[in-house]
Amino acid sequence: APKVTGKAGKISFKAIPPNTLDNLIVPNGYDSAVVIRWGDPVVAGAPEFELDKQTAKRQSLQFGYNNDFVGVLPFGNSDERALLVVNHEYTNEELMFPGFTSLDALTVEQIKVAIAAHGLSVVEIERVGRSGQWKPVRKNRLPYNKRITALETKFKLTGPVAGTAAVKTAADPKGQWVIGTLNNCAGGVTPWGTVLSGEENFNQYFVGGDAVAEADKPKLNRYGITTTARYPSGSRKWERAQERFDLAKHPNEANRFGWIVEVDPFDPDAPPRKHTAMGRFKHEGANVIVAKSGHVVAYMGDDERFDYLYKFVSEKKYRPGDRRHNLTLLESGTLYVAQVTGDSAAAEIDGTGKLPSDGAFDGTGKWTKLVSGNKSFVPGMTVADILTYTRLAGDAVKATKMDRPEDVQPSLRTGKIYAAMTNNTNRAVGTNPGVDEANPRSANKHGHIFEITEDKGDHTGESFTWTLPIVCGDPAAADTYFGGYDKTAVSPISCPDNVAFDSAGNLWISTDGNALGTNDGLFATPIEGSERGHLRQFLTVPRGAETCGPFITGDDRSVFVAVQHPGEISGATVDKPVSTWPDGDYAKPSVVVSWRLDGGPIGS
Ligand code: FEO
Ligand code: CA
Ligand code: CA
Ligand code: CA
Repeated sequence: APKVTGKAGKISFKAIPPNTLDNLIVPNGYDSAVVIRWGDPVVAGAPEFELDKQTAKRQSLQFGYNNDFVGVLPFGNSDERALLVVNHEYTNEELMFPGFTSLDALTVEQIKVAIAAHGLSVVEIERVGRSGQWKPVRKNRLPYNKRITALETKFKLTGPVAGTAAVKTAADPKGQWVIGTLNNCAGGVTPWGTVLSGEENFNQYFVGGDAVAEADKPKLNRYGITTTARYPSGSRKWERAQERFDLAKHPNEANRFGWIVEVDPFDPDAPPRKHTAMGRFKHEGANVIVAKSGHVVAYMGDDERFDYLYKFVSEKKYRPGDRRHNLTLLESGTLYVAQVTGDSAAAEIDGTGKLPSDGAFDGTGKWTKLVSGNKSFVPGMTVADILTYTRLAGDAVKATKMDRPEDVQPSLRTGKIYAAMTNNTNRAVGTNPGVDEANPRSANKHGHIFEITEDKGDHTGESFTWTLPIVCGDPAAADTYFGGYDKTAVSPISCPDNVAFDSAGNLWISTDGNALGTNDGLFATPIEGSERGHLRQFLTVPRGAETCGPFITGDDRSVFVAVQHPGEISGATVDKPVSTWPDGDYAKPSVVVSWRLDGGPIGS
């Protein structure tokens, strides 16, 4: 398992106040810089970005749009060289193409630019001097630098669904290879030095759902694909560039997305893989921990209102140093879904967020087995059914409907697992499911953090306890909770999305969609001891942006964040920008590094 090597300790920075500035703000004593931005060259020899000269070919060599997950993987023990691996979740065409009027008015070449701006980037980076700042290496030969795109990169399907009927298409009659990856949101770095990436809202790229076989329509619907119209509003129009996005012609293509992707950045020739054993849903991401038994366990969220939390336990065991073996660990195993029960009386959970009389939103939980290897545990569903239509399997076993499970990550310090429930404004509204102790607020607009403690510390086990350490929102409001800490001394937080840890185990949380009306940002809090819940705002991002990443380097000296969709505000275009960050002309999604001016550990 990875060593915790940093120097982080007690959090000591002075929180920055909420703001609406079109800038990236860090605390006193810290600095920040853009590492790489949309359009910057990635592959050696790539052209410099020119807004009005963009082509799919150029974009395929340059940094993609809407950076989300960020991983920094050092070369061996080097603290000077590393590979930066970044997801590009989606595109804002209105902020990318001058003269934009509508998606329908885009040229086919512009659609191909958007397709090429999706995927991932691998970029070699180097430390700047002895500081915590990092920058891309610029050389004529960059053997690891790579763009993975939705346009043309081939992915290998692994696991039980590979080769089954549901993933066979005219272009891939054996159901083994998929072109591209879609809507890659959060992710994780594995102990064997690869990156996992979640394919999230892949539904929006498909049209023609009205023309599929009647029996398949409920399956498409459960994944948010419209089956009542040929061209649903809000679709990306990609079928104009690649026919496969039209399900009327290629009904199985959508089944080839919604997986966890594994990328080995240290082997540029290895095809990225989609691991079907980990199930198919709107994967936010996946984070792995090695259990005491040696099995690896991945925790995962399905980001949709009223969807589920999952975990995957590998069939094989982790072997330290045996990278070739470890690369196979996510290809076979057992998939579980969470059922969560509160320990307070239902009548005490009234939807207002008021703590029950035992003083906590807490209780017990069960991991319900859906499939193990080639054995189904869901009556009436085959292994391939369960893994391809995992949401239906979760429905069948009555998994607990959560408030949009986003990033889920175990703390390597304590083994406790933290999941961001970003929000669910439909909770207990109309005919929607009501509140429960794990999702205790009706019309939950600010979200909460869900903490899991596996029984006996066994990540392979089937039972756990849980609690909500933070119920987000305005600390002055009665419906918020900050671990019992003095609420007059904490920062307001809304819509937690991604979580991370420094080496001392402090919890870092980034937000998406601040419903308190100020910019999104990054926060840090101790999560053990008397300061549990003492949350402080570390950073804010520019107007219209969400804060992604975050990633704290193993030496604690740098925190990377992805500034996603700066300037994404209704009515804004590249010609009429609401944000001009970072260069003063028009908005560019960018990865930023922040570091302490005196070289010390971030946050401490
Ligand atoms: Fe792409 Fe769930 O955020
Ligand atoms: Ca309770
Ligand atoms: Ca996210
Ligand atoms: Ca989000």
